[in-house]
Amino acid sequence: MLKEKLVRPVVKTLVNNNALDRIEEDMMPLKRLMAYYQCAIMEVETKFKVLNQEFSLEYDRNPIETIKTRLKSTESIVKKLVKRDLPLTVRSIEDNLNDVAGVRIVCSFIEDIYLLADCLLQQDDVKLIQVKDYIKNPKPNGYRSLHLIIEIPIFLKEEKKNMRVEVQLRTIAMDFWASLDHKLSYKKNIPEEEAELLRQELLECAEISANLDVRMEEIKNRIVNK
Ligand code: GTP
Ligand code: MG
Repeated sequence: MLKEKLVRPVVKTLVNNNALDRIEEDMMPLKRLMAYYQCAIMEVETKFKVLNQEFSLEYDRNPIETIKTRLKSTESIVKKLVKRDLPLTVRSIEDNLNDVAGVRIVCSFIEDIYLLADCLLQQDDVKLIQVKDYIKNPKPNGYRSLHLIIEIPIFLKEEKKNMRVEVQLRTIAMDFWASLDHKLSYKKNIPEEEAELLRQELLECAEISANLDVRMEEIKNRIVNK
């Protein structure tokens, strides 16, 4: 069911009232779909927790610092569908959006990111849909992270359903950078000239931070190999 209070004001500016009633009818099974995405998040989170546990037993260290999960809000879902000119139906959400379920894995070291990604993708119930490696190919603004879109099954009372999940893997330093960048992108009242300076400054920090990630990893490996 639509979260009426949340969605009506947003949608009202975009479509008329009749259309809105139809959309809401179409959106009746939305709550169910969102519950399925929440289950998929739990599955993926558990997979990473299991890997973390196994590594800590085997190598006496935890590759994962933190796991953050989020379910995209109804408001953001509607905004994205409208922006892309896609149908406002539950089917359309499943078919077109890859990031309703999101899991963010924060590690200390870059090599752990690739190790965890490989371990996840080797599992026979995980299907890889898309990889975006913004660590090897950072975005022009300096953004770094490894993004995976995967599909995993959730087992319901009478059926098995494949759900898409966006997994973002990054280091603590990348996460620190991305949250500051995110703050800047949401601030709309900064004069363009100043915003441009801040973007340049952030780009420089992204490079310093990427360099720090590499050096810290080298130090760690020298310590571990002693
Ligand atoms: P959407 O942004 O979700 O429409 O997806 P996309 O198709 O552009 O995918 P992409 O994999 O590039 O980005 C998905 C997510 O990564 C975003 O929703 C953010 O969480 C994160 N992200 C991507 N680029 C940036 C960036 O420049 N800065 C920050 N802070 N986060 C970013
Ligand atoms: Mg997104």
